[in-house]
Amino acid sequence: MTWLITGGAGYIGGHVTQQLVEAGEQVVVLDDLSSGAAERLPAGVPLVVGSTLDRAALDRAIGEHGVTGVLHIAAKKQVGESVTEPLRYYQENVEGLRVVLEAAAAAGVSRVLFSSSAAVYGMPDVELVTEDTPCEPINPYGETKLVGEWLINAAAKAHGLSTVSLRYFNVAGAASPELSDEGVTNLVPMVFERLTAGRAPRVFGADYPTPDGTCVRDFIHVADIASAHVAAVKRLNAATEQVNLTLNIGRGEGVSVQEMLAVIGRVTGYDTTAEVTPRRPGDPARVVASADLIHKELDWTARYEVEAMVASAWDGWCARHPEARRRA
Ligand SMILES: NC(=O)c1ccc[n+]([C@@H]2O[C@H](COP(=O)([O-])OP(=O)(O)OC[C@H]3O[C@@H](n4cnc5c(N)ncnc54)[C@H](O)[C@@H]3O)[C@@H](O)[C@H]2O)c1
Repeated sequence: MTWLITGGAGYIGGHVTQQLVEAGEQVVVLDDLSSGAAERLPAGVPLVVGSTLDRAALDRAIGEHGVTGVLHIAAKKQVGESVTEPLRYYQENVEGLRVVLEAAAAAGVSRVLFSSSAAVYGMPDVELVTEDTPCEPINPYGETKLVGEWLINAAAKAHGLSTVSLRYFNVAGAASPELSDEGVTNLVPMVFERLTAGRAPRVFGADYPTPDGTCVRDFIHVADIASAHVAAVKRLNAATEQVNLTLNIGRGEGVSVQEMLAVIGRVTGYDTTAEVTPRRPGDPARVVASADLIHKELDWTARYEVEAMVASAWDGWCARHPEARRRA
C-alpha cells in the first residue's frame, strides 16, 4: 500500500505524514506549497510539487509511486477569507477534491480519507455534537467541507470507494517546534501574538450562556488528529468490504476561552487577563464533539490534555519568536 497525502507539507498534513511513516506506511506527498513547507516532511518522503487542480500532477504522483490510497488533506482553511473569496474557496476545496477523486477513480485507487471540519455543523445548539447533528454551515469554508463530504459519498457509491471523512474540532499544539502551525487564526496563536506584542489577549464576548460567559470549544492536539488518521488508514488497509464512515475527531470535553487563557498564563508565565470585546458574528456559544463513534469504529481515543497542547504550541511559537520566551 502507498498513500498519497495531498497537503502533506502543511500543519496537520506534516503530522499525519510523520506518524504514517513511523507506522511503516509508504507515502508520497502532493502539495503546492501555498501554505506548506517542504522542510516539514520526514527525510526520504517523496514530494510532488503541484496543485490538486492539476490532473497531470496527480496522475504522475499516483502512477509513479503506485498509489493505492489517498488522504486528501489539502485545502484553503481561513473562514474570513472564504467569505470574501468564495469562488476561490469552492474552486480549491470542491473542484480540487473532484479532480483528486477523478484521478483516483481512473487509476483504480479505492481508499480515500478526507479532511472535513466541525465547521460543517455551523451553530449547533446541543451539548455534544454527534455525527447525526444537522449540518448547517454558516460560511463558505464550512460549505465547501460539507459539499466535499457529499462528493465523497456520491463517488463512493458510484465507484465502490471505501472512504473516511474526519471532522476535526479545534486543533492545537505541535509534535515538535518545526511542525507547528505558523498561522495566527486560531485562539492559541492569536493569544501568543498579543502577549508577545505586550498587549492583553482579547476575548470576543463574555456574555454567552456558558458557565463563565465565554465560548466553549473542544480543543484537540494535532498529534491526536494524526493518530486518528493512522487508525483510519489501518482500518481501510484491513477492510475486506466497502467502508464508508464520517467521524468527529474531538476529545468530547468542553474548555472555555477563559479556561484556555488560564492554561496559557500558567504555561507561558504571562499575565493573560483579557480585554473583553463584543461578540463576533457567527461564533456559537458551545461546540463540543461526541467522540463515541470514532472510539467505536476505530478504537481511537485522544491522549493529550490542554496543557500539553499549549506547552507544545508555545515551544513552536518561541522557536519563531525568541523574544517571546525572554519576556516570560
Ligand atoms: N487547522 C485546523 O484547525 C483545521 C480544523 C478543521 C479542518 N482542517 C482541515 O485540515 C486540513 C489541513 O489544514 P492545516 O491546518 O494543516 O492547513 P495548512 O494550510 O497548514 O495546510 C494545507 C496544506 O495544503 C496545501 N495546499 C493548499 N491548497 C492546495 C492545492 N490546491 N493543491 C495542493 N496543495 C494545497 C498547502 O500548501 C498546505 O501544505 C484542511 O483541509 C483544513 O480545512 C483544519
